[in-house]
Amino acid sequence: MIKLEQIKKQYDLGGTKVTALKDVSIEINRGDYAAIMGPSGSGKSTLMHILGILDTATGGRYFLEDYDITALPDMEQARIRNKHFGFIFQSFNLFPELSAVENVMLPMSYAGVPYKARKEKAVQLLHEVGLEHRMTHLPTMLSGGEQQRVAIARSLSNDPDLILADEPTGNLPSDKGEEIMKILESLNRRGVTVVMVTHNPEQGRRAGYIIELRDGALIKGSPDPEVSRV
Ligand SMILES: Nc1ncnc2c1ncn2[C@@H]1O[C@H](COP(=O)(O)OP(=O)(O)O)[C@@H](O)[C@H]1O
Ligand SMILES: [Mg+2]
Repeated sequence: MIKLEQIKKQYDLGGTKVTALKDVSIEINRGDYAAIMGPSGSGKSTLMHILGILDTATGGRYFLEDYDITALPDMEQARIRNKHFGFIFQSFNLFPELSAVENVMLPMSYAGVPYKARKEKAVQLLHEVGLEHRMTHLPTMLSGGEQQRVAIARSLSNDPDLILADEPTGNLPSDKGEEIMKILESLNRRGVTVVMVTHNPEQGRRAGYIIELRDGALIKGSPDPEVSRV
């Protein structure tokens, strides 16, 4: 599905260059459930941004379904991103002035889905994440775990092929984090490809495919033969 070849990322801080990724080559295949791991500052979020085409590499090539998207114009990259990818962040990133259902509807309005259809879909997705009783709540009226479930519903609104989750349980107590993990795992069983950043070794083991970074370099990046997926 995705192939990164020798991806490099440097940030230029007024003369000082910070190398965030050094020649990272990985493959994400359809149906994978991958965990990106490594210490703080090792480049995990940078790699997620590049995978999600939220940012561009300063070197290397990015193939999506064998199609080189490295040099595509921004508009085209945005179109691919909205059509194929769903994003979940550590801090939920919901719009505070929109209700749960409105937050889930938003990406569909960018995609031109008519009002009635996007409302129905948003209601259905909120049902799927167990929030049918929280449709009209604003994010501030929801717990962290509930906000993250809204964010998951939103990430699913355009039927993504790939979900990118950057420390999705990082701001949650462990029991709520476990609920999020269960939702991600059930999505993966339904065929959605999942790439997640985590610090939690247990979550990494459950993913079965660990991509490990150290100082921007890949130190491990293939499905772990020791781990059998349920
Ligand atoms: N926008 C940025 N500008 C400059 N340096 C950055 C920027 N984003 C990340 N970095 C640097 O790149 C390195 C990797 O960061 P990041 O990908 O956020 O790591 P992680 O998610 O593993 O904690 C760090 O040294 C960080 O300081
Ligand atoms: Mg990070």
